[in-house]
Amino acid sequence: MASAALILLVFLSVQLPSRCLSLQNRPTKGQLDEWISLNVKQYNRKREASLRWMQESVKHKKQQVPAASSGLDPKLRNAEMNKMIISVSQDGSGNFKTIKDALASLPLYNKCRVILDIKPGVYREKINIPRNMPFVTFRGDSSNPPRITGNDTASAAGTDGTPLKTFQSGTVSVDADYFVAINIIFENTAPHVVGTAGEQAVALRISGNKAAFYSCSFYGSQDTLYDHKGLHYFNNCFIQGSVDFIFGYGRSLYENCQLNSVAKKVASLTAQKRTNTSILSGFSFKNSTITGTGAVYLGRAWGDYSRVIFSYTYMDKIVLPLGWSDWGKTIRDSRVYYGEYRCSGPGANMTGRVPWARILTDEEAMPFIGTYYVDGNSWLIHP
Ligand SMILES: *[C@@H]1O[C@H](CO)[C@@H](O)[C@H](O)[C@H]1NC(C)=O
Ligand SMILES: *[C@@H]1O[C@H](CO)[C@@H](O)[C@H](O)[C@H]1NC(C)=O
Ligand SMILES: *[C@@H]1O[C@H](CO)[C@@H](O)[C@H](O)[C@H]1NC(C)=O
Ligand SMILES: *[C@@H]1O[C@H](CO)[C@@H](O)[C@H](O)[C@H]1NC(C)=O
Repeated sequence: MASAALILLVFLSVQLPSRCLSLQNRPTKGQLDEWISLNVKQYNRKREASLRWMQESVKHKKQQVPAASSGLDPKLRNAEMNKMIISVSQDGSGNFKTIKDALASLPLYNKCRVILDIKPGVYREKINIPRNMPFVTFRGDSSNPPRITGNDTASAAGTDGTPLKTFQSGTVSVDADYFVAINIIFENTAPHVVGTAGEQAVALRISGNKAAFYSCSFYGSQDTLYDHKGLHYFNNCFIQGSVDFIFGYGRSLYENCQLNSVAKKVASLTAQKRTNTSILSGFSFKNSTITGTGAVYLGRAWGDYSRVIFSYTYMDKIVLPLGWSDWGKTIRDSRVYYGEYRCSGPGANMTGRVPWARILTDEEAMPFIGTYYVDGNSWLIHP
C-alpha cells in the first residue's frame, strides 16, 4: 500500500509541472538544448563584447573582472524549457481581457516560464504578482507598448481603510522571482505637489530576485521605481520622476537607460538604502543619460552605507555641482560609496563635488560595470 501511494505521489509530482504546457507545443529535447545553448552563446558574446569595450576604454592591462559563476540557474533552465504563451487583449481577441485575469489563471508555484503577450492599450489595473508566482514575463509590442497605469499614493486608503503606505502604492508590484518585462510602460499618474506629505506614488515595485526589464518605461513623480531588493537588470529603459525616483536596496545594473527628472525643486535621482557593509546592494548606472528639469542630486543616502555608481553616463546641467547628499547626516559622509567613472556632460564636472564623492579608478569601477555585478551569467537570458 505504502509503496503504491508513493508511486502515485511521485507520478503526480512529475505530472504537475507539465500542466502549464497545455497552450503550446512542447519543444523536443533537441530543440530545447539548441535554444539554451544559443542563448548562452549570445549572452557570452554580449558579455565579451562589453568586456572588450570596457577594456579598450581603460588603459590598464590587468583588470579585476569578477569570476563567472558556473552556468545557468537550474530552476530557470527548467522553466525556460517549458514555456507557455497566453495573450491579453482588451478587445476580447486574446485569451484574457485583463492582465489580472490572466495572472489569476496561473497555477501557484508554477515551474514554467509564462509569457503574457499584452496587446496595445491602456490597462487601468492594480497588479500584484505574489511570491509564489515565479517565471512571469510581460511582453508588449515595441511599436505600441501597453501602458499599465494607476494613481495610488502612500496616503490613499487601501481596501481595509488604512493608508497604503509607499510599499503598497505601486501600480504594479512584483514579489515573485524571475520576473521579466519587455516593452511595457509602467505608470503612476498621481501628481506630486511640493511640500505635501504622503504623495509617494510608485509605478513599479520589484521585490523579487533575478528580475530583468528590457525597453520599458517608468513614469511617476515621487518614488517612481521602487527597486526594493534582489538582483535586477534594466536595459534601454526610460525612468521619469521628481523625488527619489529610483529607491530601495536592490543590487541592480542599469544599462543604456535614460533618467529624466521632472523635479520642481531640488530633488534626488536615487535614494539607495544599503544599511551595512555586509549587504551587497547598490545601484550601478552604466552608459546612461540624465536629462530633464529641476536641480537634482545623483543620490541621497537613505541608508548609512548607501552605494551608487555612475559610469560612462552623460549628465546634463541639471545635476547639482555638489552631486550627492548625505540627507543631513554627516556620519554618512565616510560610510556611503558614491562613485563616478568616465562620465561626461556639464553635470559631470567634479569641481564642486562633495569631498566624499569618489572618482573611481579603473580597478574600483570594474566590479560594477558588467552584468557580472548582478551575477548575470547565472540568470540573464536576453529575450
Ligand atoms: C485617480 O484615478 C481615478 C480614475 O481615473 C480618478 O477617478 C481619481 O479622481 C484619481 N485620483 C486622484 C487623486 O487623482
Ligand atoms: C550606450 O547606450 C546607447 C543608447 O542607449 C546605445 O545606443 C549604445 O549602443 C550603448 N553603447 C554601448 C557600448 O553599450
Ligand atoms: C546587515 O544587515 C542585514 C540585513 O538587515 C542583517 O541581517 C545583518 O545582520 C547586518 N549585519 C551587520 C553586521 O550589522
Ligand atoms: C568645471 O567647473 C569649474 C567651476 O565652475 C569650471 O571652472 C571649469 O571650467 C569646469 N570644467 C569643465 C571641463 O567644464
